[in-house]
Amino acid sequence: MHEIVDLRSDTVSRPTPAMREAMAQAEVGDDVFDDDPTVHQLQQLAAQITGKEAALFMPSGTMSNTVAICVHTQPGDEILLDTEAHSMLYEVGAPARIAHVLTRTFPSKEGVPCLETIERSLHVASLHSPRTALVILENTHNRAGGYPIPLEVHQRIYALCQAQHVRVHIDGARIFNASIATNTPVAQFAACADSLTFCLSKGLGCPIGSVLCGSYEFIQQAKRVRKMLGGGMRQVGILAAAGIYALKNHIERLAEDHRRARQLAQNIADAQGILVESPNPPTNMVYFQTQAPAEAFVERLQTDYRVLCHATGPHRIRLVTHLDVDDDDVAHAAQAICAVAKALY
Ligand SMILES: Cc1ncc(COP(=O)(O)O)c(C=O)c1O
Repeated sequence: MHEIVDLRSDTVSRPTPAMREAMAQAEVGDDVFDDDPTVHQLQQLAAQITGKEAALFMPSGTMSNTVAICVHTQPGDEILLDTEAHSMLYEVGAPARIAHVLTRTFPSKEGVPCLETIERSLHVASLHSPRTALVILENTHNRAGGYPIPLEVHQRIYALCQAQHVRVHIDGARIFNASIATNTPVAQFAACADSLTFCLSKGLGCPIGSVLCGSYEFIQQAKRVRKMLGGGMRQVGILAAAGIYALKNHIERLAEDHRRARQLAQNIADAQGILVESPNPPTNMVYFQTQAPAEAFVERLQTDYRVLCHATGPHRIRLVTHLDVDDDDVAHAAQAICAVAKALY
C-alpha cells in the first residue's frame, strides 16, 4: 500500500522506473526545427493508432482542445458542446477568449448526447445567425462519471454533422479508457471525427502531454496555432519517449483501474450518509454525494486516513483510480470513506 492514497485524479501518477529509463535514453533534437526523432516517432505512432493522417505532440489537453477549436472555426462562429464539457467549464473560457467563438451547450444523459438535441441545435449561417462550425464530444465524460460514448452514437452524430458541413472534434482525454471499457479500437472512434485529442498524462501515466490527431492539412494549421500559443517545444523527445512507452505498455492495464474503481464503488455503496452515483462505474471514476459538506469530508479523509480525493461540488466527491493505486489502497480508501461517512452522519 502507498503511504498516501491519492485518488484526486489520474493525473497524479508518477512515471514508472521503466518509463523514466525510456525518457533518459531518448534521442532528441529541437522540435521547433522539426529535428526531434522521438517526437516524430510518437506522432507517427499516434497517427497509426488513431487511423488519422497526422498527429501533433501538445503540452496539454487544454491546449489541444483550444488549438482544435481555433483551426476548425472562424471568429464569430458557434461551437456546440456538452453543458458540463471540460472545454466549457475548465479551460478558463479559451473558446471565447482565444478562438472568439460562441458556445452553445446541450445536456447529456450519463455523458451521452442525444442525436435529436444536437440536430435541433445546429445553426446554418443566415443574415441573423452565426453558423455552427464545430461539435465537441467528450469521451469518456469526466463530470458525468467517466462514462464512455458508444461508437454508434458517435457514428450517428458524425453522419449528421457531415451532412450539415459541421466539423466534429473528440476531446478524448480518456479515449483509451473508453476503448477498453467498450472494447472499441480508438481508430473507430477517431473515424467519427475530423480531429481527436488524447491525453498521455492521465490514465496512461506520463508526466505531461497530449496528442492531437487529424488530417495532414489540419495538423499543419494546428502546428502554427500551437506555436502562436507558445506551445512550440524544443528537446521534447524526453517527454515524447514517455508517451511512446505508455502507448506500448499502459493501455491494456487500464482494465485494472476500471476493476479497482468498481471495487471501490461496491465497497462504499452501503455506507450511511453518502450516495454512490454509479455502483458499477464504467471506467476509472467513482462519484458520490455526501450529506456532510464535501470539503469537510475531504479534509477528514486526508488528515485522519491519508486518503486524498477531490470535491467537485458542495456535496459531491470524485475518486479516480490510476497507475499508482493498488488493491490495498482501494481497500484502505473504502474503509476510510465508510468511517468518515459514519463519523459525519
Ligand atoms: C475531459 C478532459 N479534457 C481535457 C482535459 C485537459 O487536460 P490538461 O489538464 O492536460 O490540460 C481534461 C483534464 O482533466 C479532461 O478531463
